[in-house]
Amino acid sequence: MWKSLKDLDVSQKTVLVRVDFNVPLDDQGRVTNVKRIRETLPTLRYLHEQGARTLLLTHLGRPNGEVVSDLTTDRLVKPLSELFAQEGIEATVDSVGALSGEEVQARITQLPEGGFLLLENARFDAREKKNDPSLAQEWAQLADVYVNDGFAVSHRDHASVTGIAKLLPSAVGFSFETEVKTLTAAITSPRRPLHVVMGGVKMETRIPMIENFLENVGAEMILLGGAMANTFFVAQGHAVGMSLYEQEYVSTASTLLERYADRLVLPVDVVVADAIESDQTEVVSVDAIPSSKMVLDIGPQTLQTFAGVLSGAGTIIWNGPMGVFERDPFLAGTKGVAEVLAGASADTIIGGGDTAAAVERVTLTDKMTFVSTGGGASLALFEGKPLPGIEALDEV
Ligand code: 3PG
Repeated sequence: MWKSLKDLDVSQKTVLVRVDFNVPLDDQGRVTNVKRIRETLPTLRYLHEQGARTLLLTHLGRPNGEVVSDLTTDRLVKPLSELFAQEGIEATVDSVGALSGEEVQARITQLPEGGFLLLENARFDAREKKNDPSLAQEWAQLADVYVNDGFAVSHRDHASVTGIAKLLPSAVGFSFETEVKTLTAAITSPRRPLHVVMGGVKMETRIPMIENFLENVGAEMILLGGAMANTFFVAQGHAVGMSLYEQEYVSTASTLLERYADRLVLPVDVVVADAIESDQTEVVSVDAIPSSKMVLDIGPQTLQTFAGVLSGAGTIIWNGPMGVFERDPFLAGTKGVAEVLAGASADTIIGGGDTAAAVERVTLTDKMTFVSTGGGASLALFEGKPLPGIEALDEV
């Protein structure tokens, strides 16, 4: 088991915290959703109260090893300061437009006890993604201890996630710990029956997740929607018109359908249109998808079937929207599933990324038992893969 933040002596130390403040930005570069920042507040409050000088390290976007002015971390100072003010954390927050070196050293010496300094975007340095030890070393020289409170990036083997963890006494932050414990408990000791609603697009990541849930986790039922269901429709022998599907996964989908016929639930009707931009929609049975149309949401009958199955659940894990929920004409399926979960007595666990954004869009986040901050990280955990960010940390 990893060390928890409370197992480390951080009092008056310089602490480097890897957070995942990779938050959505609008076209003016302003932060539009602060969930990932808010979730770190218990860790940051604790460090503040311990009189630590805290360096915050995050990536923002995918700048590919280059300085991109729209992705600097100075824009994170305001939302973090506002959250501190709301929560009564009286701490200074500042940013330094550098990742390491003399400038950062100088700013650390000026940092008051309990204060926070945001380092520059970790991905402005090409060595971050390569997990180059020289970069990890530069960061390690800045601090006494390392804390990882960025669960959402824990599936990446990067210098700020794994490299530095090996060079300093290290521990997980409170939000990271809650994420891993909650998601792990949902697959290792869920209230039964455990039903999984799965949608989204890429079969490459969905197939290992389906297999892990069916074969290892023992999920009772898996309900499939989203673009990935199209590949299963093809495996069932249906024509899918202009819909997105992945030919190379059709035979895997066939095998799963044969082997787990009684545990996989597929849509029976779908919402189709000419294009994603279209407002002209039609509900059709899955065996009557017009050749000129594409599937963009699950249909009402499917939603009713899903609601019926889910009504008996002890735990529901939901990963991946049911359709193109960003557009109103194709929101109903995703919204309906969110409403079913919101009204369920089951434990409801939302994988992060698009699913969290969808639940937020229909303002039902507060009605869920747990909404993960992790997109790829929660997927990796549900696939049963080890998370490099956890493996690198000190054990108790
Ligand atoms: C995420 O948004 O899933 C994490 O911040 C990881 O970002 P990445 O997919 O760019 O590594």
